[in-house]
Amino acid sequence: MNNQSLAERRRRAVSPAAYSSHPIYPARAEGAYVWDADGTRYLDWSVGIAVMNVGHSHPRVIEAVKRQAETFQHLCFAVGMHESYIQLAEKLNAIAPGPSEKRTFLVNSGAEAVENAVKIARVATGRQGIVAFTHAFHGRTHMALSLTAKANPYKAGFAPRAAEVYRAQYPYLYRNPWGATTAAEVAERALAALKDQVKTTIGEGEVAAFMIEPVAGEGGFIPAPRAFLEGLQTYAKEIGALWIDDEVQAGMGRTGAWWTVDHYGLEPDLVCSAKALSSGFPLSAVVGKAEVMDKIAPGQLGSTFGGNPVSCAAALATLEVIEEEGLLERAREIGVVATEKLKALQKDLPKIGDVRGLGAMIGIEFVTGPDKTPDSNAAQAVLEHARADGLLLLTTGTYGNVIRLLPPLKMSDAELSEGLEKLEAALRAVLEPVAVGV
Ligand SMILES: Cc1ncc(COP(=O)(O)O)c(C=O)c1O
Repeated sequence: MNNQSLAERRRRAVSPAAYSSHPIYPARAEGAYVWDADGTRYLDWSVGIAVMNVGHSHPRVIEAVKRQAETFQHLCFAVGMHESYIQLAEKLNAIAPGPSEKRTFLVNSGAEAVENAVKIARVATGRQGIVAFTHAFHGRTHMALSLTAKANPYKAGFAPRAAEVYRAQYPYLYRNPWGATTAAEVAERALAALKDQVKTTIGEGEVAAFMIEPVAGEGGFIPAPRAFLEGLQTYAKEIGALWIDDEVQAGMGRTGAWWTVDHYGLEPDLVCSAKALSSGFPLSAVVGKAEVMDKIAPGQLGSTFGGNPVSCAAALATLEVIEEEGLLERAREIGVVATEKLKALQKDLPKIGDVRGLGAMIGIEFVTGPDKTPDSNAAQAVLEHARADGLLLLTTGTYGNVIRLLPPLKMSDAELSEGLEKLEAALRAVLEPVAVGV
């Protein structure tokens, strides 16, 4: 089988809704590399959309999965709970942000964690309103989709959406409606606007929870300023609402700490985790303060596959690898090296409007000129050029004009240099002004 024959079979067999960013058909993957069905090798800086933080086919993950699959594959916690579920809950509770006692509930996907966090928040507070933000992505199931911001291709056509969802402005420094030019200023303006909106149009006693990504992922890799998250935590407490921290994309070491909010010493009431948690085996978690989680009655939440033992074994091995191989520190190192390089390139290439991120979660936003008109063609052209040169990237952003860097955290210096060289070549090829002949 090669790429072309697989493409033909796919066209006949697979729903066109299953979209792929790259016309490649992966045949094998190891460490930082993927080989497609034609035998072409790619350095993978998409890692399955922020999933394979420990690299592809990590031997410890494979060993843990094999051992568990040979022992037993499934019973369902609703029938009898296996030890690896308990062990993973203990581990997640131990690394969860903040000092409060924690409890964990496991399901299958990021969207499902979000759905369950909303259910928990509503029962725990006895309120219904959920405030989400512009540029948000929380998943594609009914409630998660209602919390997601972007109309196309996610929401359009799928109305009606869930009730009691409100949308406030995300503190997006590069594009904000207040003309703020510093992180402190955008934080202050966004917080003031949020409080005014809650007071005047929702009602402070109606809000069950604020749901926010500390780095907006699908929105364009936009870090929320520390002061904004601090202010949100304080305001939520003040009005008796909960803070749900969606770290499905930004968590599990990606930004250089277990959780992005660890950088700021904050403690959300509930945290959603998925993606890199289990190195590709379906699993997600809601980790929350015990005082909140304990308000849910036995059997009120459930899932046939949630906390599957093979996925739990993969997650436990993944967490050990992150810890023992120093991948939190490595994420920070990757971030420093890549950001320095990209900031230098930005000076030469004015169509790079913004370079931003936290740890190894870095976005490059393209614009057509100083008026900041989003340039999604440039992002797509950079992605295609890089692929032709053997580097897999992904675009992102509300306007589709951002390249997101998601390198594996387990990556050698040589692989980091290789990726940055290929990225520079693609950026220069697409963005460098063409010299006009005399
Ligand atoms: C922040 C965030 N929340 C939720 C989700 C939904 O996760 P899943 O695709 O596993 O349902 C995603 C997926 O990209 C995400 O980035």
